[in-house]
Amino acid sequence: MPLAWSDFARLLEGAPLPAALVDLDALDRNVAAIRAAVRGSGKTLRVASKSVRHVGLLRRILEGGGDAFRGLMCYSPREAAFLAGEGLDDLLVAYPSTRGLADVAAHVARGKTIRLMADGVAQLRAYAQAARAAGVVLDVLLELDVAYQPLGGRLHLGVLRSPLRRPEDVAWLARQAARIDGVRVVGLMGYEAHVAGLPDATPFSPALNPMRRVLKRLSVPEIAAVRAEAVEALRREGVDPIVVNGGGTGSLATTTREACVTEVTAGSGFLCSHLFDYYVGQSLEPAAFFALEVCRLPAPGVVTCFGGGYVASGEPGWDRLPIPWLPRGLSYVAMEGAGEVQTPLRDASGVGLAVGDPVVFRHAKAGELAERFDEYLLVRSGRLEAREPTYRGRGACFG
Ligand SMILES: Cc1ncc(COP(=O)(O)O)c(C=O)c1O
Repeated sequence: MPLAWSDFARLLEGAPLPAALVDLDALDRNVAAIRAAVRGSGKTLRVASKSVRHVGLLRRILEGGGDAFRGLMCYSPREAAFLAGEGLDDLLVAYPSTRGLADVAAHVARGKTIRLMADGVAQLRAYAQAARAAGVVLDVLLELDVAYQPLGGRLHLGVLRSPLRRPEDVAWLARQAARIDGVRVVGLMGYEAHVAGLPDATPFSPALNPMRRVLKRLSVPEIAAVRAEAVEALRREGVDPIVVNGGGTGSLATTTREACVTEVTAGSGFLCSHLFDYYVGQSLEPAAFFALEVCRLPAPGVVTCFGGGYVASGEPGWDRLPIPWLPRGLSYVAMEGAGEVQTPLRDASGVGLAVGDPVVFRHAKAGELAERFDEYLLVRSGRLEAREPTYRGRGACFG
């Protein structure tokens, strides 16, 4: 059963606010749903740490996934080193960075598996330098850009990730890597953000949903083709890829169908921030919340919450704001949105919110919530089971 407003009110009575909470029962159900989405596909699932940013929850998710889940997708070398220090292993840093490499190399020297991402020679050289200094060889994946480029490449639909757009670009970089002492190419990643990260049933711009679905339908076969060709191109260069990674929460159904893919990634779906409510065919449950205190009643039908301006990254718009979740019937005042210190809400909830009551929100993005709070209150069966630090609560901030 999803938590009701009255459950939150009981749990938070007398507690400091703002507070962030995770419903562990809902999290378990999301883990089971995502595990079911990869079951039978022959792929394993890598958990995107950026969409969790909480060591205790990452451990729970990995444990809940059993054999179907393998390893973490990290977002920075420093973060990977931090997680390796926490005893986690099989870490893929999916975003190139030239900082924090000595720590990564030191963990690799101690036997950890940490792989890095590259899309150019400059990154490879930086990785190699750190590797040689530590007396190791660093494993690298090459990132193929899989944005949709119709009209002979004149249109670029999707995010701008990597300059490696064609299989021959990947082959070229693999050849360069082969000449650099200290790095070894072991795989390929292509992240189809315009499928996996594009809500196609969003209430924020509903008129564009049909176009988004067409974009997805047209690009999925192209992604599969270019990824398979890039893997073949790597093989021709003498690289037999150990890891071919693709996808995200929003593309599990399509990425798991690709024969050349060895593993898919998911992160946001575990905590299911509100942007993951708006995908056709997806049924995940909200599992992460934050609660603000009603601190004043400035006008009839309006309650003002303390804090709340936790705006998410990405293309600016109303969908980047948290959504008032419970009690139902609360909405933003259009000219104010979510405020730095105060957030007024129109109140049609009918529950008679009073000063001191909690209002429950959901963040747009799953991991970014953790950058606002030192700890999560972990709730099971409607009871507080534990309170555990986020990355931020550990003093760990990686960007
Ligand atoms: C490389 C990569 N893979 C996978 C994902 C999917 O993560 P999530 O499931 O949190 O959307 C992302 C998200 O940005 C990503 O950058």
